Amino acid sequence: MVFAKALAVVTACLSIVDANPLKRQGLAFDFDGDKVRGVNLGGWFVLEPWITPSLFEGGTAVDEYTFTQNLGKDAAQAALKAHWGSWISEADFTEMARFGLNHARIPIGYWALAPLLEDPYVQGQLEYLDAAIGWARTAGIKVMLDLHGAPLSQNGFDNSGNYGSIGWGQGDSYWQTVNAIRILAERYASQSDVVTSIELLNEPANWGLDVGMIKQYVYDGWGTVRDSSGTTAVVMHDAFLGVPYWNGFANSASGLNNIILDTHIYQVFSPGEVARTPCEHIKNACSNAVLLAGSDKWTIVGEWTGAQTDCAKWLNGFNKGARYDGTFPDSSYIGNCQNKYQGTVDGMLDVDKTNLEYFIEAQLDAYEAHSGWVFWAWKTESAPEWHFQNLTRAGLIPQPLTSRKHPNQCSTACHIPS
Ligand SMILES: *[C@@H]1O[C@H](CO)[C@@H](O)[C@H](O)[C@H]1NC(C)=O
Repeated sequence: MVFAKALAVVTACLSIVDANPLKRQGLAFDFDGDKVRGVNLGGWFVLEPWITPSLFEGGTAVDEYTFTQNLGKDAAQAALKAHWGSWISEADFTEMARFGLNHARIPIGYWALAPLLEDPYVQGQLEYLDAAIGWARTAGIKVMLDLHGAPLSQNGFDNSGNYGSIGWGQGDSYWQTVNAIRILAERYASQSDVVTSIELLNEPANWGLDVGMIKQYVYDGWGTVRDSSGTTAVVMHDAFLGVPYWNGFANSASGLNNIILDTHIYQVFSPGEVARTPCEHIKNACSNAVLLAGSDKWTIVGEWTGAQTDCAKWLNGFNKGARYDGTFPDSSYIGNCQNKYQGTVDGMLDVDKTNLEYFIEAQLDAYEAHSGWVFWAWKTESAPEWHFQNLTRAGLIPQPLTSRKHPNQCSTACHIPS
């Protein structure tokens, strides 16, 4: 740690005489001059029932932990190998590049890197990740590796691998997580032509964890990545505290180099948000631009969506209902989830297509206010508003990504015809 910090200071001093920002950062992506335009490969190495309902249909599993526990090691291994080998292929990376994307953020759980004996989880993900990095290289796509699940869960969401309580930090779990980052960095940081960045931990919950521990982990995690690479960008999630909260923390003056702050912007996970009108959704999306621009470090919107409701089947957890139609606890009816529950992009109602097209373009405008964005997700089985690939094929996400059918939404009055 101390050595790594000293090295960073030396690097920073040397860089003053070097005018080329790319060389100065030692990175294969220019986070100052370019915009991250990316997609999340969600539901691949960390299962989420709502992304691949077919794997959970008719069972009792609610997350990857119970999925593997219910099946047992051998059957879980077989099922997941089939999934890993088919969910994403080289053709996906080729199409991402054709769409003008430059990054794929790839979630992975600690259990793929540093499994614990007592866990039911199975391994074998890294062979597929290795292949993905090769496909990304061929396609010209950069990769952000993202530790999405920590032991005992950092947020209690199914996407941490383990739905339920938040226990990260208890027992040995903190240092087991640092160890997972060490293994990730040792294996991939040298492939810096593709792997531009490593995210230390997705969505640690400020409401269930000690924020002091979350901050300490950024330092320990940064130093651990630096043991393998002096330059690989280190991504820290904002722990749902918002972008302004982190100004002054881990910026260039603090001795840490190449830090990226990751904030996630959804408007579907509270009753008030799903009650917003389409124009209110756009206004709220646009209000983020000034916060992003005001950050003192590189800042991305590492997750966002075209969805304006939480209607997608099991989005709130296996077998759970939606706030939008009042079938989720502590919510009341706003509207019908019919045609929004499960379907395809082509099968969306025209009014929903129109609203989504405006909403996505407004978000693209707002979220390029600093370092760029990563859409959640590249694909889903049956949640159309979350399916970047099909939305783009259908013309609902602009091509090129910088073109607009509805320009200047963040600086003009909202006028959606629907
Ligand atoms: C995406 O497109 C594929 C190919 O046309 C189709 O099979 C699939 O159902 C679509 N999924 C969604 C959610 O639109």
